[in-house]
Amino acid sequence: MTTSYTPPKHALDAVTHANPYPYYDGLLARQGLHFDAGLGLWIAAGADDVMAVMRHPECRVRPVAEPVPAAIAGGAAGQVFGALVRMNDGERHAQPKLALQRALAGVSAQAAQQCAAQIGRRLWRDDGLADWMFEAPVSSMASLLGFADSRLPAVAAWMGEFVACLSPYSDAAQIERAHAAAQALLAGFKELMREASASAAPGSLLAQVVAEADAVGWNESHALLANLVGLLSQTYEATAGLIGNSVLALARQPEERSGEEDVAALVRAVSRFDPPIQNTRRFVANDCEIGGVPVLAGQTILLVLAAANRDPRGQGREFGFGHGVHACPGQALACAFAAGAMAALMAEPAGQSESAMLRTLSWTYRRSPNARIPVFS
Ligand code: HEM
Repeated sequence: MTTSYTPPKHALDAVTHANPYPYYDGLLARQGLHFDAGLGLWIAAGADDVMAVMRHPECRVRPVAEPVPAAIAGGAAGQVFGALVRMNDGERHAQPKLALQRALAGVSAQAAQQCAAQIGRRLWRDDGLADWMFEAPVSSMASLLGFADSRLPAVAAWMGEFVACLSPYSDAAQIERAHAAAQALLAGFKELMREASASAAPGSLLAQVVAEADAVGWNESHALLANLVGLLSQTYEATAGLIGNSVLALARQPEERSGEEDVAALVRAVSRFDPPIQNTRRFVANDCEIGGVPVLAGQTILLVLAAANRDPRGQGREFGFGHGVHACPGQALACAFAAGAMAALMAEPAGQSESAMLRTLSWTYRRSPNARIPVFS
């Protein structure tokens, strides 16, 4: 019996569709930007189109009129959001980005993978894949930043509450909790900075960020604290999605399992072919033309990264971690965390429960317009 393929209704529905990839291949068959009138969004799916938008000076990471989403503006979560390099162009982007990039580049991928494997093993509970895939990477990041082991559960819990403010689907109660969590996280980092400056101990990642910030002359203390929170929030959901999608890749291809998988290669392939961040957006600041198409000030362009990753014309270029000036500075760390967590999952004695678990997995995808994160039941 053949089952028929019901494609996603549109590019946002694709993010959490069981198999969006034939649909994305259809998008790639159309060259250039096209306007989806139902969504009210321009769609860029081809590798060259995505690059053209990312490079265009009129294409910004936030709408000019709404640098912080109205739902969170005014509270602590909004103050964090407004300072993130991810959410700024120009001056508030370049200098902090350089500092973060340099600090993150100094972390050894091997050390990050080992840290994640160790923390992943410690946090593993037999029934807990759904929560564990969030807790393990964010706890690893918090540990590299310098938080003591005893503080990792609180940091992970605050982060779970904070990221709700980034979803357009959150309700008022979740946003209230996100503001409180943002305050707690900012206070936690403030304390950690005090401890780090009082200590003679060398180099946590936090100390590296502070040193690189000094070196580039970035001396806004609130923005620095906000971007430290940002390092955790940007680890939290996307890396959980990378782990979850890697678990699914293993479950789909049990015949390829030897017990000695190259987890790093698996994670890399998943980050390209079943990526956790399927799209991102750019907001047009002034009327302009992109690839011969006129776009208007105030319009939004959806960059379908998960389609561009598969573009045969893309010459192997990858977009799952962005590209160009806003490219993700955490790519190597994210892959190391995911590989470490996967290694922990596959290690004995958890390995026995893991193979039983892979046989009986059931999941849906968490509701999201951009992140593909399985929810295991
Ligand atoms: C699997 C995990 C991750 C994925 C899929 C991912 C993906 C991305 C993507 C697609 C962008 C570009 C967004 C755009 O251009 O609109 C981005 C930016 C960014 N990511 Fe990641 N990321 C991940 C993990 C991390 C981690 C672990 C960190 C921190 C250590 C991090 C820090 C950042 C930062 C700071 C930016 C903003 C860069 C800028 O605007 O210049 N990410 N990420």
